[in-house]
Amino acid sequence: MSKKSYRAKPSDGIAFVSGASSGIGRAVVIELAERGYSVAAMARRADDLRELAATRPAQIFAYPGDVRDTAGNRTLIAQIEKDQGPIALAFLNAGLSLHVEREGFDAALVAQTYAVNVQGTANCLDPLLAAMAQRHRGQIAINASLAGYNGLPSSAIYGSSKAALIYMAEALSQMYREAGVTLQVINHGFVRTAMTDQEKDFAQPYKIEPEAAAKIICDGFERGGFEIAFPWQLTALSKFIRALPYAAKFKLMDYAVNRAKKP
Ligand SMILES: NC(=O)c1ccc[n+]([C@@H]2O[C@H](COP(=O)([O-])OP(=O)(O)OC[C@H]3O[C@@H](n4cnc5c(N)ncnc54)[C@H](OP(=O)(O)O)[C@@H]3O)[C@@H](O)[C@H]2O)c1
Repeated sequence: MSKKSYRAKPSDGIAFVSGASSGIGRAVVIELAERGYSVAAMARRADDLRELAATRPAQIFAYPGDVRDTAGNRTLIAQIEKDQGPIALAFLNAGLSLHVEREGFDAALVAQTYAVNVQGTANCLDPLLAAMAQRHRGQIAINASLAGYNGLPSSAIYGSSKAALIYMAEALSQMYREAGVTLQVINHGFVRTAMTDQEKDFAQPYKIEPEAAAKIICDGFERGGFEIAFPWQLTALSKFIRALPYAAKFKLMDYAVNRAKKP
């Protein structure tokens, strides 16, 4: 029988959150601090991170950085561990969605999106997995999206970057289980942030506030298990559509997309 996978707790070390300057990442930093963690908050906007750290100077620490910088991330994560001790829990959340992708497929937009969502996540994973495997202890959660389940017509670039993250998390969770590192993937629906505020053409059903999302995500860290998915209505619908044969899938997607279009 396989032993239970590791779940971090504040006494094991600090938490690391990428994409912490706004939206879901910022709310998760605050929620983790509420739950007793010291948190290293990372993103590019240094002023926003410092303002966040000032709300709890003994618990939240600003570490400005860019996830696209492979060497810079390795140095940053080593610096965090030197300053604050081992990272027990990492929430890899930095991401972007370029609304302009609706206007047509463009390889430059693929490069821009993948550089943050896929390569940026990999740049954090690399040093974190190495450090955690060496200690034989760590928990890493990757923020993908329900958009990664099915090829949505408005989301060829963003959605496919999230599909890559789901795949990566699935594979790594099996590769690193024996090394004592727990991998989780987070697939959620609409949360009110700067990212979803761009959307004017489609309804965003079951949209929730970032604080509510942060509570569900942090409950998921504590509960363990591979996937943290919400809301259940969109999760069930996405999983159902994913399981259909293509002809039925495309028919149902046409119907759903047309219904979601704003008049
Ligand atoms: N909102 C939703 O409905 C929704 C649904 C599913 C999944 N998600 C995912 O949730 C995550 C957070 O998004 P959000 O909705 O909270 O939007 P957001 O407020 O725009 O947050 C995005 C975060 O990513 C950071 N970021 C972007 N590029 C970066 C880079 N190169 N290096 C470091 N950090 C970078 C941003 O900080 P800086 O600009 O300061 O660098 C910001 O803190 C994303 O991965 C997104 O795909 C969101």
